[in-house]
Amino acid sequence: MWKPPQRIKYIPLADTWPSREESAHARLFAPVALGPLQLEQRTWVPAMVPWRASDDGEVTEDVLDWYGRFARGRPGAIVVEATGIRDVPSGPLLRIGHDRFLPGLQRLVERVRIESGGHTRLLIQVIDFLGIRRRPEREKYLRQFLQITDRHRRLCGAPAVDDDALREQLCQLDDDRLAEILDAREWEALTMGHRERVTDTALPHIAELPRVLPGLFADAAGRARDAGFDGVELHYAHAYTMASFLSATNTRTDGYGGSLEQRLRLPLEVYARVRQAVGADFALGCRFLADECIEGGNAVAEATQIGVALAAAGMDFLSLSRGGKFDDAKQPKVGEASYPYTGVSGYECMPGYISDEFGPYGRNIEPTAAIRAAVRAAGYDTPVVVAGGIHTFTQAETLLQQDRADIIAFARQALADPDWFEKVRTGCGAQVRLCEYTNYCEGLDQKHKQVTCNLWDRLELDEPGIRKSRDGRRRLTAPAWKRD
Ligand SMILES: Cc1cc2nc3c(=O)[nH]c(=O)nc-3n(C[C@H](O)[C@H](O)[C@H](O)COP(=O)(O)O)c2cc1C
Ligand code: SF4
Repeated sequence: MWKPPQRIKYIPLADTWPSREESAHARLFAPVALGPLQLEQRTWVPAMVPWRASDDGEVTEDVLDWYGRFARGRPGAIVVEATGIRDVPSGPLLRIGHDRFLPGLQRLVERVRIESGGHTRLLIQVIDFLGIRRRPEREKYLRQFLQITDRHRRLCGAPAVDDDALREQLCQLDDDRLAEILDAREWEALTMGHRERVTDTALPHIAELPRVLPGLFADAAGRARDAGFDGVELHYAHAYTMASFLSATNTRTDGYGGSLEQRLRLPLEVYARVRQAVGADFALGCRFLADECIEGGNAVAEATQIGVALAAAGMDFLSLSRGGKFDDAKQPKVGEASYPYTGVSGYECMPGYISDEFGPYGRNIEPTAAIRAAVRAAGYDTPVVVAGGIHTFTQAETLLQQDRADIIAFARQALADPDWFEKVRTGCGAQVRLCEYTNYCEGLDQKHKQVTCNLWDRLELDEPGIRKSRDGRRRLTAPAWKRD
């Protein structure tokens, strides 16, 4: 992962934890409504992919354990990881694109109900993403994948040569010369791996996204409702299809790109269709970016207009993230795929402890507060969820007291200590295992390995009945909280 060049090291903030009595009066532990859905407290575990689904996208015992463990800490809400809406193979990513996934998802809902004693509400994040290939070997790309065109022939000064001879010629070129002959997308396919974009409208399946996505999202959300989830979060953030439609980099000319109004069109059409499918009495919101953190992308000014439009459409909550784009991702190794959390925008999404003068705690706060203020000024009371580097009670409570957010998301802090919520609520905050923002977990995520936290994954490995990683060296869930 990219790190700011300043290389300033931060340690978790020291906090004065509240007593049980103080927590009882804290805004953080006061209820909040997401439209028709009541949360007992304003704490939220946002979506985190732990790579525990089966290879065909089914809920496994490891998935049940992962969410069951978070549920024992009784946060106000848990959002299940990005879950694919299509019925296509996607590796060990959870899926909801067919009714056959329903029994597994029902078990997941049941598990969270039981483990949280009915205190935690469960939402699921639904996602669509476009095709991406691994970075190819140079020779293989030039001999097999590259489609030879007259442009290549012309630039090589070989107008009459056949494809095979031209491929041979290209293989002999050095990189500088090759970069002059390949166009930007071909060069990207060679050096990063081919990646589809929403602007590739010459491809029929990309051109028709606005026709197919509303139905796919609606069917997925309907299944979530049937499985017993309390709500759905539409994934309009990071590097994926819907965020790409919203992005200022979306130059589609079919009415779904260009101006902000047109970029908003599909996200609003998806929302309308999903709402029709799930009804007004089911919580439906979305996650989107307060700032894309890339050159030429949406910054806060546009995200503010997006927030107001989404609130006006009737979203029951708005969850704000930032960055996490392919556009500035690092070059992957040959045989690996580009990963959207490896560049500057990736750092902004999951800031680590090695940082700049601003530090890793709260980079998303000001942008989120600005969006919330604009939504309120437009007359909507849609709850706004903030995420990014929040790990202490004081940080969270201050944000709520200052009306900068309505709900506080803890991703890595909840992974480091899923009991954060119960510990702090019951006056045992001093026992919290604080996240150190080392991004060890994120490194595992990047390699598609089962995600764990290095603060606990080697502890009590002989505990009976615990599930371990495939190599048997790490426990998959945090040890139980032994109250002092
Ligand atoms: C292992 C891991 C997986 C993640 N998966 C998702 C995801 O599926 N969907 C999503 O919107 N964000 C995902 N995120 C981002 C988090 O939800 C959150 O926005 C980010 O980690 C910043 O919050 P934090 O500082 O509290 O960790 C993931 C983060 C981590 C560490
Ligand atoms: S591995 Fe643990 S301590 Fe490190 S960032 Fe992830 S959750 Fe925090």
